[in-house]
Amino acid sequence: MPDGAPDNGSVTSAQTVAAATTTTLVHRPSGPDAQWWRSAVIYQVYPRSFADSDGDGVGDLPGITARLGHLSRLGVDALWLSPFYTSPQHDAGYDVADYRQVDPLFGSLEDIDALIARADKLGLRVIMDLVPNHTSDEHAWFRAALAAAPGSPERERYIFREGKGPDGADPPNNWESVFGGVGWARVTEADGTPGQWYLHLFDVHQPDLDWENEEVREEFDAVLRFWLDRGVDGFRVDVAHGLIKDQDFPDWAGHAEMIAGDDADNPDIGPAPMWDQPRVHDVYRRWHDILATYDGDRALIAEAWADTDEAMARYVREDEMHQAFNFDFLCTPWSAPDLRRSITDGLTACDSVGAPTTWVMSNHDVVRATSRLGLRTTGKGPNGIGAQDEQPDVELGLRRARAAALLMLALPGSAYLYQGEELGLPDHTALPDDVRQDPAWWRSGHTEKGRDGCRVPLPWAAAEPGFGFSPTGATWLPQPQDWGRYALDAQRGVAGSTYEVYRSALRVRRDFHLGTGSLAWVDGLPLGSADSVIAFTNRQLLVLVNLGETVLRLPADLELVHASQDLAVDADQRVLVGPDTTVWALIPS
Ligand code: NOJ
Repeated sequence: MPDGAPDNGSVTSAQTVAAATTTTLVHRPSGPDAQWWRSAVIYQVYPRSFADSDGDGVGDLPGITARLGHLSRLGVDALWLSPFYTSPQHDAGYDVADYRQVDPLFGSLEDIDALIARADKLGLRVIMDLVPNHTSDEHAWFRAALAAAPGSPERERYIFREGKGPDGADPPNNWESVFGGVGWARVTEADGTPGQWYLHLFDVHQPDLDWENEEVREEFDAVLRFWLDRGVDGFRVDVAHGLIKDQDFPDWAGHAEMIAGDDADNPDIGPAPMWDQPRVHDVYRRWHDILATYDGDRALIAEAWADTDEAMARYVREDEMHQAFNFDFLCTPWSAPDLRRSITDGLTACDSVGAPTTWVMSNHDVVRATSRLGLRTTGKGPNGIGAQDEQPDVELGLRRARAAALLMLALPGSAYLYQGEELGLPDHTALPDDVRQDPAWWRSGHTEKGRDGCRVPLPWAAAEPGFGFSPTGATWLPQPQDWGRYALDAQRGVAGSTYEVYRSALRVRRDFHLGTGSLAWVDGLPLGSADSVIAFTNRQLLVLVNLGETVLRLPADLELVHASQDLAVDADQRVLVGPDTTVWALIPS
């Protein structure tokens, strides 16, 4: 046994463990007929970086369709596709020029139909991204708005205002863009004079729509129906908390992060006038009713960076959306008390409105968990990591990310995986600056590296050029040279590989019905301190996460079901659970 390990030698049998504990029930199981989205594992596909079929170095829809078998073998229930609409790609497709077309970069409408049909055959549901807060500046509506006069119906689809100061040369208020810089841009009117300003909470190429305008609402009703008719199972709604703005457009002293009310409690700042306005919920009630007219439990998922769990839960009230990303969990540091608090709060808030909780660790907007958890300070992490920044401890980060994955996948509710997470993929933390494409890199004046590091094309085959991402080896962002170790073909069938750990976890999760299960905290385990060990039960499983620095010695007769690492056994046949490791065992009777 390693030096410094606690002496828990008295815990010799599983029954001793069972007898010593108290449990606190936090969440009850859902019924056997619960809708699929209450417990689904949903895999996020970022189309430009998943798989490229035509060799141009950018992933595409046929590439995804050809690789759907990977998702089905992994054992997920659904995929969420980030945007593939017609777009000039100023924000990687979150700037939509046509909501009813596929960008030729990714394929065609026939290609998405083929993808949906193949997914259906494999028993996978398909969720699309919907981007309602803003369009691209190349959308026909915005072009018409620029060509039309101030006050025209064309301008009223967006948020055009007169500027302040002499000649209206100053923006209408002080709102900033989330990506940095001023949140307004001034247009040149038809007669060549400087004219009105339009609001863009994100890039200058992403003008905000005016959701006070009934025409905007009707257009999105039709867009929803267009895709529901094509067979999609639901929508992940981008910037769901941003559609309605305070109509006074007051100046605001806060910094426009995506998080709604970070400053709400600060009397000098107050709640953000652009996020989480109460009337935004009317939009989702309307959409709820549209989805309800379709068969098959279609679902709406909110990307709402609300500042409290209660605010997040308002998006998933019975007559609104079905799920909301639980970003609090993603942002929580690697600490037993903090994670326990986050899990309790997330479950309690969602239970209060009868919605499932979601769990997510990584996506295309944040540094991947494998890299975040290898930094000296854990939590939400920086907005991108560059070569000059602190470099993550890759092995520590991977070990923790695997432990976190087994924590997450044992929780009741729905879980999200971001492509490559099942391979243990880290961020590219040393991308050359001249390949960066995220508008946040430019708009922040190069103070934020941005999100390119988590968007690098996936490695499928260790020995192939571009690690098998495309037939030519081309990749739109360079991959680190050592990524062969993460390639799928280097991990498939290899016992203890990250891929096999995820695959087994998903199988056990399904077999034990963990997604519709319960959660009860277990206290008093004679195995380690509550400050460093998380313990809970769900169905027949006891889940233990060792976040401390010492090794836990399990009773020899505790029946193990799964673990995030290979486990050693000491001379007394006691299983040793090292730091940053999660184990699933059968609850001792
Ligand atoms: C959230 C999306 O996830 C992100 O990628 C995008 O840049 C912003 N919304 C703006 O659409």
